Amino acid sequence: MAEINIALIGYKFMGKAHSNAYRQVSHFFPGKLQPRLRVICGRDRAGAKAAARQYGWEEVETDWRKAVERRDVQVVDICTPGNLHHDIALAAAAAGKHVICEKPLANSLAEARAMLKAVEKAGVCHMVMHNYRKVPAVAFAKRLIEDGTMGDIYHYHGAYLQDWIMDPNFPLVWRLDKKVAGSGALGDIGSHALDLAQYLNSDITAVASQMTTFIKERPLPADGAGAWGAKGKKGKGKVTVDDDANFLAHFKNGSVGVFEASRFCGGRRNYNTFQIYGSKGSLAFNLERMNELELYSQADAAGRQGFRTINVTESHHPYVGAWWPPGHIIGYEHTFIHAVHDFLVALEKDSLPEPNFRDGARDQAVLEAVELSAQSGRWEKVAR
Ligand SMILES: NC(=O)c1ccc[n+]([C@@H]2O[C@H](COP(=O)([O-])OP(=O)(O)OC[C@H]3O[C@@H](n4cnc5c(N)ncnc54)[C@H](O)[C@@H]3O)[C@@H](O)[C@H]2O)c1
Repeated sequence: MAEINIALIGYKFMGKAHSNAYRQVSHFFPGKLQPRLRVICGRDRAGAKAAARQYGWEEVETDWRKAVERRDVQVVDICTPGNLHHDIALAAAAAGKHVICEKPLANSLAEARAMLKAVEKAGVCHMVMHNYRKVPAVAFAKRLIEDGTMGDIYHYHGAYLQDWIMDPNFPLVWRLDKKVAGSGALGDIGSHALDLAQYLNSDITAVASQMTTFIKERPLPADGAGAWGAKGKKGKGKVTVDDDANFLAHFKNGSVGVFEASRFCGGRRNYNTFQIYGSKGSLAFNLERMNELELYSQADAAGRQGFRTINVTESHHPYVGAWWPPGHIIGYEHTFIHAVHDFLVALEKDSLPEPNFRDGARDQAVLEAVELSAQSGRWEKVAR
């Protein structure tokens, strides 16, 4: 098994999830390439060192440019807030490194397109971490759509709902600053919902949206994190992103869509869901019960029709054969392992994994159209 050296930029939430994926992937999906956790990067040396120890990275850098330019690194993995994705990806591509980037791909469509151009020009492998495509139940839903089980799709309902900032005293973290995050619920979780929609159904061609910020000011974070200046600074700052974004959509295949992304839905901790209604059947998925897929089939005998719940844990279901016997369920972290596995296979085969920067840019075009529509109050076409 050949080793491939990784540089990971950003060591917190996603840094932890990706580190775990690199450590686990070869145990369950042995292939020709094994990731080596070469260097982890964060601005704070002590924090980066602690992460390196905990997650098993060999070395630490505090300047992402140095990490990207290292000769002993072949893959750059971007786990920072969105305002850095573009610059790091461009530097990585220029240095001839393969790139994995967290979602949303960028903070604007122009940035996303420049990133796509850069990786294509450099001829490197690229992936955007829309990891929910890698849930076995979601990949199985894709199979059912592609093999015609669902017939023609009429409706797509996508919702990604959370509730972690409902307290008005929750601080002004970076996700609430447009300059850093690009947008709020829309880009953070709505991007996942629309990536699933464009993957499972078809391209979104036009949207009509509204975006709302319920809590307009919040306390500055005690640790000075984000763009609000010094540690210990007291007072409140302005929230510059949406708390909720919802929109109607037209799809290229003639179906219609309804979407909502919100962080103000009490009790919904990580409620990433879709419902798909087709001429032959319907599907429903909820990430909080991620091993299950609900299926309704018109082909069932009269009097026996109704939604059934499939436990997507059989060895013939996507990715599942590498794990445990039927009914021995998997979880959130496995989605990142599956994504890294797909990335390594693509590297082995000199092909392009999915989702890649093309998908990321395609999603970014919808994000931009949603923002435009919320401002104009009209339907807006998605730029292609
Ligand atoms: N795929 C998913 O389901 C998922 C889930 C959460 C977050 N994300 C995405 O992952 C990215 C990171 O989010 P997170 O939740 O891990 O954030 P986080 O705040 O937990 O971590 C951000 C990391 O970036 C580092 N960082 C910031 N500026 C830096 C710089 N100049 N140089 C080096 N490091 C820097 C911070 O030190 C920190 O380690 C975002 O794009 C976010 O949208 C994706």
